[in-house]
Amino acid sequence: MNDWLSDRNGTLHAESVSLDSLARQYGTPLYVYSRSAIESAYAEFAQAAAGRKVLVCYALKANSNIAVIDLLARAGAGFDIVSGGELHRALAAGADPSKVVFSGVGKNEAEMRLALEHGVRCFNVESEPELLRLSGVAAAMGTRAPVSLRVNPDVDAGTHPYISTGLKQNKFGIAHDRALDVYRQASTLPGLKLVGIDCHIGSQITELAPFLAALDKVAELVTQLTDAGIQLEHLDLGGGLGICYDDETPPARSVMLSALFSRIDTHPALAGLEVLFEFGRSIVGNAGLLLTRVEYLKSSPEKRFAIVDAAMNDLMRPALYEAFHRIVPVLVRQGEAELFDIVGPVCESGDWLGRDRRLTVQEGDLLAVLSAGAYGMAMSSNYNTRPRPAEIMVDDGQVYLIRERENVEALYALEHRIPG
Ligand code: LLP
Repeated sequence: MNDWLSDRNGTLHAESVSLDSLARQYGTPLYVYSRSAIESAYAEFAQAAAGRKVLVCYALKANSNIAVIDLLARAGAGFDIVSGGELHRALAAGADPSKVVFSGVGKNEAEMRLALEHGVRCFNVESEPELLRLSGVAAAMGTRAPVSLRVNPDVDAGTHPYISTGLKQNKFGIAHDRALDVYRQASTLPGLKLVGIDCHIGSQITELAPFLAALDKVAELVTQLTDAGIQLEHLDLGGGLGICYDDETPPARSVMLSALFSRIDTHPALAGLEVLFEFGRSIVGNAGLLLTRVEYLKSSPEKRFAIVDAAMNDLMRPALYEAFHRIVPVLVRQGEAELFDIVGPVCESGDWLGRDRRLTVQEGDLLAVLSAGAYGMAMSSNYNTRPRPAEIMVDDGQVYLIRERENVEALYALEHRIPG
């Protein structure tokens, strides 16, 4: 799962670079990514799609560092964005706006205008009021907004409730049984051009069945739309493919795509439609780690703690979803392993990175928190006035600083005292 990592002479290396030397040079906590891991994940999707009309859009929210976007843009990826900010980022990194799809439940008018000015490929619209608003904005600009409706197929993705999005009770998308009516209504609005249909049922999904079930539901709708005289250009199946954090066995990227293509071929209504995807985690998740140093070892009657210099503000997933990330020592030590909770310095009981981990560690040791390439840095914060970590991209033997460590002064530079 992390074949860019290896043990060389008892020290963990990222490609051919020792993590120990990276920590010495750049300090900790430190995010470390592998160029080849990102590129090969994308290439696996691209190869599985060869010969078909497919656009794999990288969901920027997973990791929006400019260097990551740039690598994927150069590889031919499109992008899935959810804010004007992400559009700016994507453009700054060299993304082609005609390969950008704009998702999200709450786009505002300024974001709609920005996206129309730059000519994004499509707006994934999630509600009737949003359709009306978008039509108004586009018509006032003398143009038509390309639109896909995000349909909620009411499929259980079997994932954590916070990252499951395709059930009726979720805030996402337009209910499957309302979709036909909403398409009909949309086709009468002056500022819209209907180009697609999309769904996204959740994230970290480790089974094929929910994806296939969602596809069947969407295909059923496309058939009804064709009968109603509404002809689309593309089908966007969202993202959501899971990765291995621990012992999960998600389908391989190529297996997932082949299974979907085979199923698509059984639905005549889908023939000729371009297929879009919005993968985030499965492209970058296992291409990154968070490097952290043990500050203290501490024991209570109940527990042993390794207090490290990374915290929930740097990697929020354990605190927010009780997510599991493997944690491994950078330097392999002899001696008996003991059970530790790996916790950060933030003043919250939820500030832990791993629980009950069997490790042989000493103060000053480095630990690597694995599978942190997706939703790690992207969800980080400055809670407790902690500057965000630096980010490094390893490219074979080369090391690039792709984001500098924040400095504390910058964290309050936008704040002002009041007089009197
Ligand atoms: N498309 C849409 C509309 C989405 O909402 C998402 C993710 C994606 C694509 C990309 O999904 P992926 O391929 O990465 O699963 N912070 C959570 C994950 C939240 C996912 C939100 N939406 C986590 O750390 O697990």
